Amino acid sequence: MAVKLLISLLLLSAFAAEAQVFDVTKYGAKPKGEISQALLSAWKEACASPTPSSVVIPAGTYTSNEVTFSGPCKAPIEMKLGGTLQANPNAASFKTDGWVVFEHIEGFTLSGGAPGDSPNTDGIHVGRSSQIYILDTDIKTGDDCISIGDGSQQVHVERVTCGPGHGISVGSLGKYPDEEPVSGIFVKNCTLTDTSNGVRIKSWPASPGRTTASDMHFENIIMNNAGNPVLIDQEYCPWGQCKSLDPSKVKISNVSFKNIKGTSSTQEAMKLVCSKSLPCENVEIADIDLAYNGPGGPANSTCANIKPKFTGKVNIPEAAATCGGAAHA
Ligand SMILES: *[C@@H]1O[C@H](CO)[C@@H](O)[C@H](O)[C@H]1NC(C)=O
Ligand SMILES: *[C@@H]1O[C@H](CO)[C@@H](O)[C@H](O)[C@H]1NC(C)=O
Ligand SMILES: *[C@@H]1O[C@H](CO)[C@@H](O)[C@H](O)[C@H]1NC(C)=O
Repeated sequence: MAVKLLISLLLLSAFAAEAQVFDVTKYGAKPKGEISQALLSAWKEACASPTPSSVVIPAGTYTSNEVTFSGPCKAPIEMKLGGTLQANPNAASFKTDGWVVFEHIEGFTLSGGAPGDSPNTDGIHVGRSSQIYILDTDIKTGDDCISIGDGSQQVHVERVTCGPGHGISVGSLGKYPDEEPVSGIFVKNCTLTDTSNGVRIKSWPASPGRTTASDMHFENIIMNNAGNPVLIDQEYCPWGQCKSLDPSKVKISNVSFKNIKGTSSTQEAMKLVCSKSLPCENVEIADIDLAYNGPGGPANSTCANIKPKFTGKVNIPEAAATCGGAAHA
């Protein structure tokens, strides 16, 4: 009797874990067709479902106009992209600044889109916003998992896992005139796995205007084979796009990198390259333990235009010497 009951309970929970599927092709979506109405109809029913649900876009190529999926929903909900969703290529036809927007949803998963080599696919970009919380989120993408752009204030990123992707970045900053200051960035208890960068602050050289980025803190971060795990790069210039290599005019101050541990996939485990005309100020480096196991010897570090304060244990050989700080082990 007890055994029988246990089995039926197990079956019940297995059944409950299985999300109910809302396939957009059942709502009128056809390959090569415009499917925003079908998506909205499927979403509406899935969102009202009292048990976990998934809206599925099966294999095939579809187009969609601007579409907003709103919560709150009754149970966790997933959007599963098995095919390719294309926007109207005429950007001028966009009436809002979002193409596919998800809002006011708890327990939301978006899956199936963003392999590691998909270009320019930031997982979450924050800009000109304050009091933002990105919590308990798992991001796999082809660009930054999270990028925090100009005008971001009081942004909290906690318990996020990232990878594949380019890591968690403040920036890039200093590319455009009239950028707004960045301040109050708190990245905590995150894990980065097989990412091309870890936690970084990046600004372009030769900024058209002067701006600031301050009060930015990265703490309790685990790196699993992450490239450039600890990085300030004020000479950020991908694809050789810069007209000039004049120093960045973004002033970086009041930064900490604390308790960052694990493995680096690049020998340069810590690189802090600040602006020659506006050196970084008040940067604290504490309890860093990053191992590099590739060719060329152990992990190393580079610093320019910065005099960080070392506290705790910084386990990168010669970090204190190359970065001019005082280490107490
Ligand atoms: C964050 O990480 C620290 C250090 O590993 C740990 O002590 C703390 O419990 C973690 N906090 C949360 C909320 O996960
Ligand atoms: C940096 O921190 C110091 C105190 O530690 C504070 O006086 C100063 O205003 C801060 N600077 C910025 C730009 O936030
Ligand atoms: C640190 O590592 C980089 C990248 O492998 C290398 O180019 C550089 O020479 C190394 N620096 C030192 C001081 O060993």
